[in-house]
Amino acid sequence: MNSPLWNDVDIYFSSKLQESDPIMDSILKANAEAGLPAIDVSPNQGKLLYLLAKLKGVKNILEIGTLGGYSSVWLARALPEEGHLITLEYSKKHAKVANENVRNAGLENKIDIIVGPALETLPTLEKKGFPSFDLIFIDADKPNNPNYFKWALVLSKPGTVIIADNVVRNGKVIEDDTEDSNVQGIRQFIDLLSEESRIDSTAIQTVGLKGYDGFVLGVVKE
Ligand code: SAH
Ligand code: DHB
Ligand code: MG
Repeated sequence: MNSPLWNDVDIYFSSKLQESDPIMDSILKANAEAGLPAIDVSPNQGKLLYLLAKLKGVKNILEIGTLGGYSSVWLARALPEEGHLITLEYSKKHAKVANENVRNAGLENKIDIIVGPALETLPTLEKKGFPSFDLIFIDADKPNNPNYFKWALVLSKPGTVIIADNVVRNGKVIEDDTEDSNVQGIRQFIDLLSEESRIDSTAIQTVGLKGYDGFVLGVVKE
């Protein structure tokens, strides 16, 4: 089967609009060598995350779902000198690969990987000195998206940007009778968003190297 046209278009834009990036390339290579699933954000999506963080001038970022740290490094590159990114990862193996990638990227002073189920580590962040974040990226186990969204609100303040990946899933998001717990998690998350008056949000469908998917973008009201 021919590769969909949007893959070529995605590669066209990244080749034109991104400089050669040995650090990002080496992260994807290390992830593949360690046998991690290739479900990182795409290069163009990573750059979008970076630009959104830059646009907002964020100082503290929370990421739920590290994998090999590819999106973590994109986001952390947007941080000022004193900025910080905390990323939560369930898998010790993924966290080990990510730690190595973060060190190779020279960002070990800015990125902290906290290992464990996110629902157990999220409640520890306030005591660790992080009562709120400027940007929160939700990209872990999709059945827990409603819980992660509730936590994102707890750990937010007026102006906090909340982004969630993989909310379209080849269009499965509109299947209201689905037995797929990932899709159920996304739909419950969207229901919470739709009922939540404290946040302004939208969802954008995307095509590209990650297939047909999309993300939610929200801003906590001032
Ligand atoms: N954000 C990454 C991709 C994350 S993939 C990137 O774009 O580069 C999703 C990650 O969430 C996986 O590494 C998986 O191990 C992790 N994960 C799954 N369940 C989790 C949980 N309960 N708590 C924390 N992390 C979890
Ligand atoms: C999956 C998870 C992701 O975060 C992603 O971007 C793509 C796929 C998955 O669990 O299948
Ligand atoms: Mg994702």
